[in-house]
Amino acid sequence: MKNHKRRFLVYLVPDELDRKVVCLTVDRHPTRYLGEEYERLVRENLNWELRELQSASEPVCTVDGRQVIMLCANNYLNLATHPKVVEAMIETTRRYGAGAGSDRSISGNMTVHEELDRCLARFKNAPSSLTYQTGFMANEGLIPQLCGRGDLFVSDELNHGSIIDGVRLTHADRAIFKHKDTEDLARVMAEAEKHKPLYRHIWILTDGVFSMDGDLAPLSEIAKIAEEHGAGVYVDDAHGEGVLGDGGRGIVSHFNLSRDEVHVEMGTFSKAFGVIGGHITGGEDLRNFARNKSRTWLLSGGMPPGVAAACTAAIEILESELQHVKRVWENREYFMKAMNDLGFDTGNSETPIVPVMCGESKKAKDLANFIWKRGVFALPIVYPMVAREKARIRAQLCTKHTKEQLDKAVAAFEEGGKKLGLI
Ligand SMILES: Cc1ncc(COP(=O)(O)O)c(C=O)c1O
Repeated sequence: MKNHKRRFLVYLVPDELDRKVVCLTVDRHPTRYLGEEYERLVRENLNWELRELQSASEPVCTVDGRQVIMLCANNYLNLATHPKVVEAMIETTRRYGAGAGSDRSISGNMTVHEELDRCLARFKNAPSSLTYQTGFMANEGLIPQLCGRGDLFVSDELNHGSIIDGVRLTHADRAIFKHKDTEDLARVMAEAEKHKPLYRHIWILTDGVFSMDGDLAPLSEIAKIAEEHGAGVYVDDAHGEGVLGDGGRGIVSHFNLSRDEVHVEMGTFSKAFGVIGGHITGGEDLRNFARNKSRTWLLSGGMPPGVAAACTAAIEILESELQHVKRVWENREYFMKAMNDLGFDTGNSETPIVPVMCGESKKAKDLANFIWKRGVFALPIVYPMVAREKARIRAQLCTKHTKEQLDKAVAAFEEGGKKLGLI
């Protein structure tokens, strides 16, 4: 490849006191920094290493040629391989083809999409829902339309990257409140009321279950504060649905809140539902607004029909087979107790996401490698996903884990944890 080296002169005026003009030369190269940046990540132990899943995502699966216990899947209810979900995908694909043929906004709005929207709204006990191609696209498509210049987003400091990116796409002002700290949220809101001119719209954005810690947003208190200010509440329940609330209906159900208190309940089909796709739930106005304004919805291909049918099947399973949600909680309690009895720090977990706190990135990576060698697959989560000194292994429990599998995983953690001085 040609090396596009060019010399550039850059004039800098450092500050008012000494008005030196500094001339620098820059060698500009189109791609060299990509490799350099990657090397830096490797040097600092911050790179992501990919493993290859060579079987279905099951409690025991084949990864990089080894049989391992899967402890890091979002597939909490094991619906990815549920026969009814798989069958719905195959049968619908046969009938309707592999793709929607267009964006839903043009000619790709298929009956299966509309059915899925209606089925989700029924499941969530809400007036209406709208599905997107992914959860990331739901956040990145809708959030930027909710606020603009003269408006304010107020966001929990640990919100998911798709919320952060959604906010970044706007000209709205932003304020951050301390993680789950409703006193701090109240302070931020009181400050916001001093803004001149007064903000037209304010939205409070929060994850429902925080994906790296497995802790819950104090949604009732957030809703109360929002109401005092006429603000909207937007909750990303990606890791809560299928797990929290009545029959896995999610965080709004868990806290028994109404659609007048939580105005957007966003979620994804890529986790407990076991498929892929994003969604929002709320009032009819929300759906009409979202499908006319979200650029990711308007300007991107519709979800494949087989995927939509599989998502509908997954919801119907939750409505009819109540054992899945119960089982995942039993497994979570069993694993948490065993890990805590050994002395592991499991952070503030309140859900089937159980962080095993390690401190520095290297320790988390070493522990993950250690348990991997003992046949347990769990991911180290390191900076920038979490703060530098809060690296961890994120264990995620699922419905079909057996006690024997969990015992084996705990034994591997115990051995590794002792070796690394974590317990
Ligand atoms: C909290 C949260 N929101 C949104 C998303 C994005 O969901 P999806 O996988 O459907 O794009 C994720 C996925 O990692 C998530 O954890």
